[in-house]
This record gives sequence, structure tokens and C-alpha cells, in this order.
Amino acid sequence: MKNPWQELPKPLIYLAPMSGVTNTAYRQIMKQFGSDLLFPEFVSIDGLHHGSIKSTELLTYDDCERPIIAQLFGADPALFYEAALRVEAMGFDGIDINFGCPAPKVANNGGGCALLADLGRCRAVIEAVIAAVGGRLPISIKTRVSYKAVHVRDFCTVIADLPIDNITIHGRPFEKPYEGAANLDCIKEAKTLVPFLVIASGNGHTPEAAKYTLEYTGADGIALARGTFGKPWLAQQIKQYLATGQYTQPSLPDILVTMMAHVTLTMALPSTRPFVEIRKVLGWYIRDIPNAAHYRAQLVRVSTVEEIETIVAKIQAELNLDFSLPASSQ
Ligand SMILES: Cc1cc2nc3c(=O)[nH]c(=O)nc-3n(C[C@H](O)[C@H](O)[C@H](O)COP(=O)(O)O)c2cc1C
Repeated sequence: MKNPWQELPKPLIYLAPMSGVTNTAYRQIMKQFGSDLLFPEFVSIDGLHHGSIKSTELLTYDDCERPIIAQLFGADPALFYEAALRVEAMGFDGIDINFGCPAPKVANNGGGCALLADLGRCRAVIEAVIAAVGGRLPISIKTRVSYKAVHVRDFCTVIADLPIDNITIHGRPFEKPYEGAANLDCIKEAKTLVPFLVIASGNGHTPEAAKYTLEYTGADGIALARGTFGKPWLAQQIKQYLATGQYTQPSLPDILVTMMAHVTLTMALPSTRPFVEIRKVLGWYIRDIPNAAHYRAQLVRVSTVEEIETIVAKIQAELNLDFSLPASSQ
């Protein structure tokens, strides 16, 4: 697909990038449940420049994940230029630039949302990526409602003439990066300021909230993040709800079978710490099952697949669930 932003049907419903979460196992499960696009965890342009093995590892993907877009963070336009060329050579279907991350390790180095402090530099960063791969790869950006006194409307005004495909806006400010209700008015306003696609982020935790967000803002899609924790079927449910006004809830066996498929994919990761990666994910999956705290306490300590299978068998017996796991996870 030459330009997924343009070619995919709207509204786009997909998994947003999440550092420490959206590894290839997470992404492949989300793809099975209809995520239109996928993003690896964001990657440092400085890390790529210095040949960091971790950065290259984070950008490992399977062909089944296409269309897949790499997200870059950093502050130096020259390194963005270089990183864009590297990412293109790795076969990605697009490049996304992070203007939203509030984490001190990113923002204190002038990257992520701190870039908004200098709108001239924001433009220079985007222009560097355009100079590197423009016309060959679609370019998109992701930001948030504000950084200190700079509002996303100021950012939109400065970049509206650039040949990019999409801006995704997380409706929470730098000061309260993940708390409280997302501001949807800034997303609605952005639709009047830029000619490219606008994607909403921050209020897609349920199908009802996603539908409301799309209708209220007029956004071209919604990027899902924490709402997918233990609920990889969320994109599918949203699509179903938009089409029919109803959506299906997975049964307890469905939840456990999907969880074990997630375990199998995680064990194939290049990571040397697959159990560290999977423990939190297991806790998310079983969050809503009866007696969840009891099972979670056991799942956060697992260090072999057999231990996970034993706990699942216990859940199955105690909750009287009739299902068998596919052979691949046993
Ligand atoms: C653990 C975590 C890691 C995140 N990492 C990234 C990232 O690497 N790049 C990015 O653009 N946004 C990142 N985000 C922001 C999300 O993509 C999303 O915009 C935000 O969580 C709001 O959506 P939500 O309320 O549906 O979670 C991250 C969010 C979380 C919770």
C-alpha cells in the first residue's frame, strides 16, 4: 500500500504507539482484531545515529503487520533526516514524528512535546523528514493539546502548508499527560486549520466513547491506546458499533485463548526478558474475570509458559469453563 493514510477506508481505527507496550506481539494480536495501522514503540533518532541495538530491535516487525509506520523522537533536524532514510531502508510504510511525549528523558532533551516550545524547529524537523523521504513515504505527526503556553492550534497554523498526511492529537496537556478527560475541542478546531487528516487520541477507551469522539470532533479516525489493555478486540468492537450500533463482548474462554496467543507471540520476541514483558499484559487480560486479584497475584510472578498454563487451567477449573487451548500455546 503506497499511502495507507489516504488509501484505507475512514474512519481509521488503530493502535497508537505506546512505548514499553506495543511490541510485535501486542501489535500482531491487535492486527488479528482489525487495527487498521500499527506502530512500533517510538525510537530515538540519537539511538539510531549511534547504532543502538535496542533501537534497531524495537523496529523489528513481521510482514503481517503491514501497513506499519515507524515513529521517531528527538530534537535535531539533521538526525531526523538521517533516521528517516534508515527507516525507509527498513521497509516501513510511513514515518511518524513524535511531538507529544512528556516523559522527562525525552522532553528534557528537547524532544517530544518540548519541541513545541520552538515552532520554527518543529517546522525544520518536519521539513528535514520531507527532504529525506517526501514523495516516497507518507509522513505524519503526533502531538498533544498543549505544551506550556503553546497550543496545538499554534502548531497547526505553522505547519498547515506542509505536504504531510496526518496529525494525531492527544487531547491532554503536558502538565497532566494522562489524567482527566481528553479535550476534544482542540481536535475539532484542528479540523478547520489543516488540510490533512486529523486523528483523535485520548477518548477511545470504549466503543461508545470512540463513536462520540468521532462525531463530536469530525476526526478522520481514532488512535487507541490504554483502552486496548487486555482488550485487543477494541478496534473490532468500535467498527462493529459504528456499523450496527451494537458490539460483541468476548466470552471468558475467548479472553483466555487470546491471552495465551499473546503469550506465544511474546515468547518469540528477541527480548531477553519475555516474562517481564508479559506479566503486566497477563494482569490486563484477566482484570475483569471473577476473582481477578487472586489470579493476578500469581500471574505477576510467572517465569515459564508452563506456570502460565497451570494458572489458566486453574481458572478454567474454578470457573467451570469448557474450552481447549490451541496447540501452538501448549
Ligand atoms: C505506556 C504509554 C506509552 C506511550 N508511548 C507513546 C509513544 O511512544 N508515542 C506516542 O506518540 N504516544 C505514546 N503514548 C500516548 C498514546 O499513544 C495516547 O496518545 C495516549 O495514551 C492517550 O490515549 P488513551 O487515553 O487512549 O490512552 C503512550 C501512552 C502510554 C499510556
